[in-house]
Amino acid sequence: MCTSAPSLGGQGDVINPLWTVHNSAYSATAFALERERILRRVWTFVCHSSELPEVGSFLTRQVAGDPIVLVRTGAETIRAFHNVCRHRGSLVVSEPSGTGKGFRCPYHHWAYSMEGELLALPGEDAYAGSGFVKSQTGLVPLRVDLACGLVFVCLDPDAPPLHDYLGSDLLAVLEAPLGEASYEIFHYDSWLLKANWKLFAENGRDGYHVPFVHHTFLGKASPPQPYRLFPTGHAVQHVTWAHDAVDEETWRQTTRFPLPGFQPGDGWIVNIFPDVVVMARTSVVEILSQVPLTHEETLYEVRVLGLKGDSEEARVCRRLAFQTWLQTQQPEDKQAMENQQWGLVSQSVRTSIIARGVDATTGIRGDDNRLRQFWQVWRSMLGTDRNAVPEGGSQSATWPGESRL
Ligand code: FES
Ligand SMILES: [Fe+2]
Repeated sequence: MCTSAPSLGGQGDVINPLWTVHNSAYSATAFALERERILRRVWTFVCHSSELPEVGSFLTRQVAGDPIVLVRTGAETIRAFHNVCRHRGSLVVSEPSGTGKGFRCPYHHWAYSMEGELLALPGEDAYAGSGFVKSQTGLVPLRVDLACGLVFVCLDPDAPPLHDYLGSDLLAVLEAPLGEASYEIFHYDSWLLKANWKLFAENGRDGYHVPFVHHTFLGKASPPQPYRLFPTGHAVQHVTWAHDAVDEETWRQTTRFPLPGFQPGDGWIVNIFPDVVVMARTSVVEILSQVPLTHEETLYEVRVLGLKGDSEEARVCRRLAFQTWLQTQQPEDKQAMENQQWGLVSQSVRTSIIARGVDATTGIRGDDNRLRQFWQVWRSMLGTDRNAVPEGGSQSATWPGESRL
């Protein structure tokens, strides 16, 4: 039994302060603290392993503001480095992705191997007697690990290993179906979300909005089912597709090729703290993730996976499943999150409410336990006792880049 004793949210007409969020938590001050205390300490999802398809494939990203580069160095090996030249600090790799045999900094042509060693530099003799040691001046590595094909990095050398961070219960959910076959991305999309990164993290934990924001479809298609919360901030909810939400032919086509271990209609939603949502839905897996850019802008990414080696017919059905059951949600959620960002700039209305349902480690879609769990871990990592930026500094959320008048 993992449900904790119910507790009342407030007394009389006063809401428990921990069941509210102050909009200073979405300010630039909060974002600077979050980068140091949360985003630099957690395991951050970067990509799916199929995005580095061959030895020499690389891609560049930023994590908590730090530029990094990932490179496949073997069939089973991916390495990650800070994408910063050891000479004068230029980006070594400026392309978003590609394939090569090593890296050459564009500024003074220092050349590094895929393993990060400094191999050659023009005019090396001039460093004689300076104390410069070539073999000690390679690219600086950072931690990288995979779980079921999902590639994560971590800037914190003292953080627990990825598999401990995710936990065995959550990994067991991811394993079926992700661990039972090889997958590849067949659809990728990204856009600039004009909203604080936590609005996305919260949206993925807010089941209350589903029948209203996604009213054209999902209110009928995804009946609420219990979820489980983990103390680490992760959550899982098993979900089904309602057979009667679509016509018979669409149902047949979208469930014809279930993923390993799934029956037609099966699925789950996994929230990985702080902000990744993985949805396995009968015949497709969707990964929603983001790169927090500033306190008011976020790069929002969508990846959709099918099985490696899918027949053309299977891929057509998976694509139809994505388009039918999942794709419409993204613009709807984007609009909802950006509307929320506009409201959060208010200097007059400073708090919002996350008080639905009693505190518990299980629940159903529509209560706010997953949101409160997010904020509980947020407070713990940020070192604060309320859902607000600690005292000091600017405490205002702002309009993203432009006036809305
Ligand atoms: S900054 Fe990279 S070679 Fe000079
Ligand atoms: Fe949504």
